[in-house]
Amino acid sequence: MPDNETPLVAADADLGSDDADVVAAEESMGQPDRVSRETVMSFPPPPPGNSGPLDSAAAAVSRETFDTPIAREAMRAVQVRNVRNEVWPKPVATRIITVANQKGGVGKTTTAVNLAVALAHHGLSVLLIDLDPQGNASTAMGVAHHAGTPSVYDVLLGSSSLQDVAIPVEAAPGLRCVPATIDLAGADIELASQVAREHRLRKAISGYEPQADYILIDCPPALGLLTLNALVAGKEILIPIQCEYYALEGLAQLLNTVELVRTQLNATLDVSTVLLTMYDSRTRLADQVADEVRQHFGAKVIRSVIPRNVRVSEAPGYGQTVMTYDAGSRGAVSYLEAARELAERGRPSPAEQDRPGGSSEHHNEGQGTQE
Ligand SMILES: Nc1ncnc2c1ncn2[C@@H]1O[C@H](COP(=O)(O)OP(=O)(O)OP(=O)(O)O)[C@@H](O)[C@H]1O
Ligand SMILES: [Mg+2]
Repeated sequence: MPDNETPLVAADADLGSDDADVVAAEESMGQPDRVSRETVMSFPPPPPGNSGPLDSAAAAVSRETFDTPIAREAMRAVQVRNVRNEVWPKPVATRIITVANQKGGVGKTTTAVNLAVALAHHGLSVLLIDLDPQGNASTAMGVAHHAGTPSVYDVLLGSSSLQDVAIPVEAAPGLRCVPATIDLAGADIELASQVAREHRLRKAISGYEPQADYILIDCPPALGLLTLNALVAGKEILIPIQCEYYALEGLAQLLNTVELVRTQLNATLDVSTVLLTMYDSRTRLADQVADEVRQHFGAKVIRSVIPRNVRVSEAPGYGQTVMTYDAGSRGAVSYLEAARELAERGRPSPAEQDRPGGSSEHHNEGQGTQE
């Protein structure tokens, strides 16, 4: 390997099993280089006027050939850096997106946290609300969530505002997280006797809304009072669907619940987005599920499909999302693309932009600074 390629890609010392199999498949197609698909190193942004190591390295690679794993890695790294320099459009009004699927382990939390970081990395102010007593989103954000921490529980019970409990997240300026603690596990029962119990979160969000471009709500794997609060509070629903057996099972129940909420509690709730997660290109089943989901949901399905990728699952162990843990990994790149498409779908029309209070005027200054 020429010297000028070594900073870009590390040799494949620790392939996750997913990726090892992908490499094996490539070998069988006559591409023998055993190079990690995950270990593209993240470079700091270059100083102004300096094209940076990626450009020069990629140019060096391009002199050889584009059709090698190393060249593909280089191109991907350059692409990531270019995307990172973009500022994405602010929506005309705060987008409140409830990430829901009552099926467990389909990628709700992973999707919510990675989209939140990606949007915040591109000049948008984002509030991520962890509404799951498991507190997985809080973990990935590196935010404390031990019992007794001021959290979304206090907000639902009316003793704190979202502003009081939202914590700035280190991963990105303009990103805040409202943690969930185990206290939330009893909220279903405690809220049961309260007035307007389904509207608690919506009311809290209405006080915070002007400060954020995006509010993402990570739901627990159930259709109880917590998820109901999120459905009443949300303007949109994003459904992550795992490309696996039984992926579509239970979806009817979720959609029925959405319909009920629409008729009785939140008429404008829109199932706007579906994201295919944990896609494994080695299985025909994954393609079948993806096709079926696209047939059913059509244009609601985000074009970028999130692959099963070991870096994605490692990141929370470091109190991070894959966007910062390994920005060049396939998982991070796919989430970045998904977030970009989500933001583009929220781009205001020229008419909306001209309207007073439109686009950039709807939230306070001081958040969402560009990296
Ligand atoms: N693209 C991916 N590649 C590999 N692992 C993934 C990916 N997405 C999610 N995971 C892992 O799968 C597990 C379930 O993901 P996640 O916690 O996001 O699902 P969830 O729907 O929020 O689960 P729950 O219903 O328990 O809240 C986690 O261990 C996560 O790290
Ligand atoms: Mg979760």
